[in-house]
Amino acid sequence: MSSSEFPEYVAQNVANWTRANAEYTDARAAESWAQDEITWGIWRIPESELRVLPELEGRDVVELGCGTAYFSAWMAKRGARPVGIDPTPAQLATARRMQRETRIEFPLIEAVGEDVPFPDASFDIVHSEYGASIWADPYKWIPEAARLLRPSGWLVFMCNSTLSMLCMDMEGVKEELQRPQRGLHRLDWSDTDEVVFHIGHGDWITLLRASGFEIVRLVELFAPENAQTHGYYNYVTPDWGRRWPAEEIWVARKRG
Ligand SMILES: C[S@@+](CC[C@H](N)C(=O)[O-])C[C@H]1O[C@@H](n2cnc3c(N)ncnc32)[C@H](O)[C@@H]1O
Repeated sequence: MSSSEFPEYVAQNVANWTRANAEYTDARAAESWAQDEITWGIWRIPESELRVLPELEGRDVVELGCGTAYFSAWMAKRGARPVGIDPTPAQLATARRMQRETRIEFPLIEAVGEDVPFPDASFDIVHSEYGASIWADPYKWIPEAARLLRPSGWLVFMCNSTLSMLCMDMEGVKEELQRPQRGLHRLDWSDTDEVVFHIGHGDWITLLRASGFEIVRLVELFAPENAQTHGYYNYVTPDWGRRWPAEEIWVARKRG
């Protein structure tokens, strides 16, 4: 699939990520790539605490929506063989610059999570951290993840929690519900012209199982007592995040 054939909502999101790259992701890439510890989400919770990732050493990993590819770099440092997939050329350009600077190198491909140019059963792990996991239609990218995985392969992805999406408006996450859960799927943010995808837990379970996965864990992330907001990601306060999970990580395994 060439970029002209991407789903219709992708062009808007690529325009937004091109802008975000100029505003902050390019500037933050060096710090993220330099980090040795794997951390998760806005509260930067260490992987050593959560233990959600399977063994990485020697594993073929594809990151769907890799952005500046710092998470793939963290996995490469642990012996994985990552491939980064992303539709935004500016994000991939930053990732390539970081590869030259760090000499941590792996393939980076301009594509969407809904249609990945690799044969069936190419990978041991499909990963997404706020990539395809929120920017791609789950009814397309989850079956695509299943296709890409070898039998017993792992799917690990992070997204905003369902509850936070029900409470989110353009200003941030509120304490009151802002939208119904019934019909939750595609959200068009009119102010920013972004299109994101979120579904409820029951729908996730149905979709994952229908796509050939067994669900291993759903990890709901609360803010630690000493949590602080980190720069751009201030749409949820530590006070909210200590009481409700703002983010969640799904771990599923393709049936063998
Ligand atoms: C928050 S960033 C990803 C962060 C990433 N974990 C990193 O290491 O930088 C979101 C990325 O999703 C990408 N994206 C947008 N639409 C996508 C789609 N349909 N499939 C895959 N990725 C998409 C954007 O281009 C953007 O680079």
